[in-house]
Amino acid sequence: MAGAADENPGPAHQAALPSGETTALLPAGEVPSIAPLARALAPPPAPRPAPVTARDTAPVTAIDAMRDEEIARTRLFIRMGWLLSLFGIGTVFVIDAPRALAILFVAGVVIGIIVSFGYHRAFADPRNYTRRALLTLAAICIANGHLAVLLYGTFSAAPILIVIGIHFVARTEAERIARGIFASAVVCYAAIAAAIASRAIADPGVFASDVPTSGAALAIGALFVLATFWLAYHTARQLRAASLAAIDDLQRTTRLASQRAALMDELLGDLERALRAGPGRHTDEVIGELRLGAVLGRGAMGEVYEAHHAVTGAPAAVKLLRPGLAGDPAQRARFARELAAGRAIASPHVVRILGGSAELAGGAPPFLAMERLHGGTLAELLRREPRLPADELRALARQIGAALDAAAAAGVVHRDVKPTNLFRSDDGGAGVGAGMWKILDFGVARIAAEPAPDERGVIGTPHYMAPEQALGQPAGPRADLHALGAIAYRCATGCHPYDAADTAALLYAIVHRMPARPGALAELPADLDRFSAIALAKSPDERFATGAALARARDTALAGALDPATRERADALIRRRPWEVRR
Ligand SMILES: Nc1ncnc2c1ncn2[C@@H]1O[C@H](COP(=O)(O)OP(=O)(O)O)[C@@H](O)[C@H]1O
Ligand SMILES: [Mg+2]
Repeated sequence: MAGAADENPGPAHQAALPSGETTALLPAGEVPSIAPLARALAPPPAPRPAPVTARDTAPVTAIDAMRDEEIARTRLFIRMGWLLSLFGIGTVFVIDAPRALAILFVAGVVIGIIVSFGYHRAFADPRNYTRRALLTLAAICIANGHLAVLLYGTFSAAPILIVIGIHFVARTEAERIARGIFASAVVCYAAIAAAIASRAIADPGVFASDVPTSGAALAIGALFVLATFWLAYHTARQLRAASLAAIDDLQRTTRLASQRAALMDELLGDLERALRAGPGRHTDEVIGELRLGAVLGRGAMGEVYEAHHAVTGAPAAVKLLRPGLAGDPAQRARFARELAAGRAIASPHVVRILGGSAELAGGAPPFLAMERLHGGTLAELLRREPRLPADELRALARQIGAALDAAAAAGVVHRDVKPTNLFRSDDGGAGVGAGMWKILDFGVARIAAEPAPDERGVIGTPHYMAPEQALGQPAGPRADLHALGAIAYRCATGCHPYDAADTAALLYAIVHRMPARPGALAELPADLDRFSAIALAKSPDERFATGAALARARDTALAGALDPATRERADALIRRRPWEVRR
């Protein structure tokens, strides 16, 4: 029965989920297949780079996201270019430059301003951001940069303009253009510098130094400049690659998270539909003098029907085994156990058993009659809100703690305390106005007075199992208290103490790992971390001894007033096994 989906009876749930919410009787080593879910959750194949083309949707790949930023950067670069150009034109009137060169420079700069003005406007629509536009802009920038080099001096600060140009183009996605621009800048600059260093031409630059300089010194100067060109190009390409990788990573994680969320939504939708009350196979039948009505809920084993006494009309709830299970003696033994446990425990916080039969008597299926409860399970509450209000959780811990103490006194270990098996009855109970919490479903309970059931392997529901249960060892009352601790953790933080990709990994974590500190997941007092350290301690001896002690400690911890001895006990546990960080 590995992977029987307790809360997911519909065919849509045939793929056993690693939900950890399923009552498991796993023979050692048998792990439910998670292949269908894993496939659904697998990240999509890596996106192929998109060309510089039109796109009118929101960014979908890292390249798209980078392009939006790139267009904004290009427009800023153009505006800064205008400022520099105007400044350059102004300098021509002040400095003593060769006339022809000055005219050429001013002409180049003015053409640059006019052309770039057109592109600046055009780039407001990203579809106009094309490789051709980029190439034109870069070519103008490099040409004007070299005019500036000639005008101000090959060995002045003018090449910085080219460095900026190279860096800018190399940041874009047009790699070939960037390489071409880098190469032409190197060639142009090297040609000018070589001509001057070899005295083929005189340096026309206004900042050219009159100090006699050897050709070798000039060559070294030129090499420095060329090295900065290369640095500008290389660092820009590296930067781009790093940004792309970071954006890609972020997008992949976000996509995965939203896929998971969407999948969860679908699953929850399916679940709601599957669990919805409605007519069942036995509706209108009379079993043990009770006339069955609609289905109230379903679990891994049973279907619970609303019922009324055929004569007196008194309300009840009747649990029947799911189709195909009634013939199985092991399943009928469950009913026998539920009957025995229900009769043994005296607590208003355990669902009251009215009667039933574990036998196939004269064609009638085994059944269990219980008090009819109105309200809902903790699982339903948590599906609506991932965290439970503090007052509600306080009431739950007290009442379920008391019920577990009553069970322990009767020699019963429930072994499957979990949200679907905790019911908040809104009937008010004995004059109590608020909800009254009750434990349901003693189907896998161990009863000291009864012969031990024939079972091997792991019993319980992975997310709420104690380490000894995960190891397949006998579970005592403190295993149930561990489950209550895990439920309190989940209700306070919205997260399970342990989560893993599959059941085997989850069981391993329960035995060997530590959860995240509750205070790291929600705003909770430090004393509540200490409470959880004791409630979820690996060894039963280290845990709270009774449900009452657990509930009391939780109350004081929530007020930040845990007594010093309990604090010391928890701190020692945490020192020995520190909290882990949730990834
Ligand atoms: N006495 C009851 N009154 C109303 N609803 C009930 C009652 N007992 C069980 N249910 C509903 O039926 C569901 C399944 O019951 P449960 O006893 O846990 O079955 P299983 O043994 O199959 O897990 C519960 O989660 C709850 O929603
Ligand atoms: Mg159940």
